[in-house]
Amino acid sequence: MDYQWYPGHMTRARRQMQEDVRLVDLVIELTDARAPLSGRNPDIDSLAAGKSRILVLNKSDLADPEQNKAWTAFFRKDGLVACEVNARSGNGIRQIRPMIAEACREKIERDRSRGIMNRPLRAMIAGIPNVGKSTFINSFAGKASAKTGNKPGVTRGRQWISVERTLQLLDTPGILWPRFDDRQVGIRLAEIGCIRDEILDAQELACELISWMRAAYPQVLSERYGISPDGTAFEVLGRIAEARRCLKAGGEPDCGKAAALLLDEFRSGRLGRMTLEKAPD
Ligand code: G4P
Repeated sequence: MDYQWYPGHMTRARRQMQEDVRLVDLVIELTDARAPLSGRNPDIDSLAAGKSRILVLNKSDLADPEQNKAWTAFFRKDGLVACEVNARSGNGIRQIRPMIAEACREKIERDRSRGIMNRPLRAMIAGIPNVGKSTFINSFAGKASAKTGNKPGVTRGRQWISVERTLQLLDTPGILWPRFDDRQVGIRLAEIGCIRDEILDAQELACELISWMRAAYPQVLSERYGISPDGTAFEVLGRIAEARRCLKAGGEPDCGKAAALLLDEFRSGRLGRMTLEKAPD
């Protein structure tokens, strides 16, 4: 499998985030609950050095509920303030405010001891493409929020969204790039739809997904498609094609079409809630 990314795009995104992060007290990092490790970029540690941090496992509605709990506990044990959220429905968003207070406790106390009261905290949302950053900003900031406009000398031209009076959110999210040095990471990111389809071989990807699903969630394929999950992954893909009438003109199974269908059903959650990476015990 050949992963491609655009170095110019990557460099620009990094530079932008390095600039923006200087303006904030807090970085709210989003990862995908279906692949919480692959969905993070390790550079976030150096990029957000010295800032308070929150880790949001977004798209939790698509991930295995048990694994959501296990991953949240894992990250919390690791010292991160973490939670699961469904930014699309708004589920879990309400816990973000108290979590910000928890993550920024030291700063709030420091300000207080210096006699600085009620200075709004400033936060930015960061994460890899398609993880749900814009959806999260809309959901979190909500209708009650208002853009505060430019504040020369303070925001250097950036737009801020006031969330009540105590928080300001940078309206442009920090884009992190995914890691491509590990083949498995690339596969998971492609499976959850963070890498564009056209730079991947969909059939190869669908076969990887079938192999993984048979081991991790053995009932899913037979229940959803009414097929036997035995044999090679490619044979299974052929059976999915037949079951879903993805056929070429001569009646041959169209595995390309079946691969697209399987990936779409997985990504949209129609195959059920699944997590590609298991939380360590
Ligand atoms: P980004 O800014 O990080 O690039 O991501 P964005 O908010 O654009 O979200 C990417 C896609 O993920 C969108 O779907 C969005 O609706 C979906 N999404 C975001 N958060 C969640 C979540 O918690 N659960 C689920 N199930 N989906 C989520 P789309 O199909 O690209 O757009 P649309 O159909 O919603 O318009």
